[in-house]
Amino acid sequence: MAKVKVAYVCQHCGHKEPKWAGKCDGCGEFNSLVEEVERAEAGPRRPVIADDRPVPITDVESIERPRIQTGIGELDRVLGGGIVVGSVGLVGGDPGIGKSTLILQICSRIAAAGRKVLYVSSEESVMQTKMRADRLGAVHENLLVVSETNLDLIRKFLEELKPALTVVDSIQMIYRPEIPSAPGSVAQVRECAADLTYIAKRNGISLLIVSHVTKDGSIAGPKTLEHLVDAVFYFEGDRFQTFRVLRGVKNRFGSTNEIGVFEMLSSGLREVANPSELFMSHDRTDRVGSVVVPTYVGTRTLLVEIQALTSRTAYPAPTRRASGVDFNRSVLMTAVLSRRIEMDLGGSDIYVNAVGGVEIEEPAADLGIAVAIASSFRNRAVHPRTCAFGEVGLAAEIRGTTQAGQRVAEAKRLGFERAIVPADNLRAIEADGIQVVPVRTLREALEEAEVM
Ligand SMILES: Nc1ncnc2c1ncn2[C@@H]1O[C@H](COP(=O)(O)OP(=O)(O)OP(=O)(O)O)[C@@H](O)[C@H]1O
Ligand SMILES: [Mg+2]
Repeated sequence: MAKVKVAYVCQHCGHKEPKWAGKCDGCGEFNSLVEEVERAEAGPRRPVIADDRPVPITDVESIERPRIQTGIGELDRVLGGGIVVGSVGLVGGDPGIGKSTLILQICSRIAAAGRKVLYVSSEESVMQTKMRADRLGAVHENLLVVSETNLDLIRKFLEELKPALTVVDSIQMIYRPEIPSAPGSVAQVRECAADLTYIAKRNGISLLIVSHVTKDGSIAGPKTLEHLVDAVFYFEGDRFQTFRVLRGVKNRFGSTNEIGVFEMLSSGLREVANPSELFMSHDRTDRVGSVVVPTYVGTRTLLVEIQALTSRTAYPAPTRRASGVDFNRSVLMTAVLSRRIEMDLGGSDIYVNAVGGVEIEEPAADLGIAVAIASSFRNRAVHPRTCAFGEVGLAAEIRGTTQAGQRVAEAKRLGFERAIVPADNLRAIEADGIQVVPVRTLREALEEAEVM
């Protein structure tokens, strides 16, 4: 077998080094050398997807690729209606978050629907997998399991069995014997994933690759592979709480930014039909520093509670922290409150948090962040049945958002009585059964929320 050589290539200037070094000799950049494989053997390796000759696009037949549905509604939505036959997906997540659990549940659903599924575990013995499957009720004769890390053997299994779905859990332990670096290194992970993708595409096998998210750079994480696969999903959540969120971040066959919400039980992951209730505290009476924001995630509205805590700082430079909301936007809201509303926040530490571990990135949460900070700073609670949304500009003006109608409808459904909304959105909102309060400026909004 041809030996594969590894070189270190500077991501900055392209300079090659035979050995890793902290500094590139070519351009002087630090930490820019990344392991690359220099291929000696010839022949095609990447999938040949179409016939070779260019053709007018009008002559190309468009066939909707069939999908394998998992039957788990929350999951199928994130997948864009099911796993596309012959597609390659990547599932990333922190260690221990429940990736294997989710994947095994998918496998058993598809196996139970009469398709052959191969679960390649590179981290656990087949006995461990069986024990988990027993606990999850995921045992089915169509589900084949193997514990293997050598890519050559996995390739052989795939070519022999041609399963409808194959899962590799996880890619970080898989290795190609001819590559000298250790499993988990950038070179191994990249090469093994590229090979698996090639084998899957050539044989029409749907493939799911599991990858750990790693904090330090010693193991190659899912970012190394995102460009290679058709779809990327992250499985997230607070390990100390029971719910988990599956988020699509890339999908060549469906929309991204969809989320699926699950609860982790000892019997496995159960889909949560009414996720808004998860992201709010149940007792919402007299909560200083908290407000509920109807946010729009993927194709649905979620009501999320945003909390803020301000306290006099003990340090020369006050602390600013944000979790679940965009840090920059929360700093921006602090600046707008300080300058435009004349709130003296300069001497306060400010912590902003979205309850339940969701990540809200959209600017529609601005008003929620600002109201929560003002509420904590003034020590006045927002009425528990009031919600607020809107983008806040640098001049403290409130701008309209998308999907205003749906946001208010969801708030009404969950029993909210008042919604503070951008005046620009008023026409899109049906004010039936809920009091809609249009505002043009942040000051008006804070007055309406009774935190001025
Ligand atoms: N016997 C059990 N009863 C209840 N819950 C369990 C049990 N065993 C594991 N769990 C839950 O499953 C979680 C681990 O799930 P899983 O092994 O699927 O995670 P993972 O992301 O695949 O982890 P790894 O990074 O180790 O591969 C645990 O954090 C725990 O919440
Ligand atoms: Mg696992």
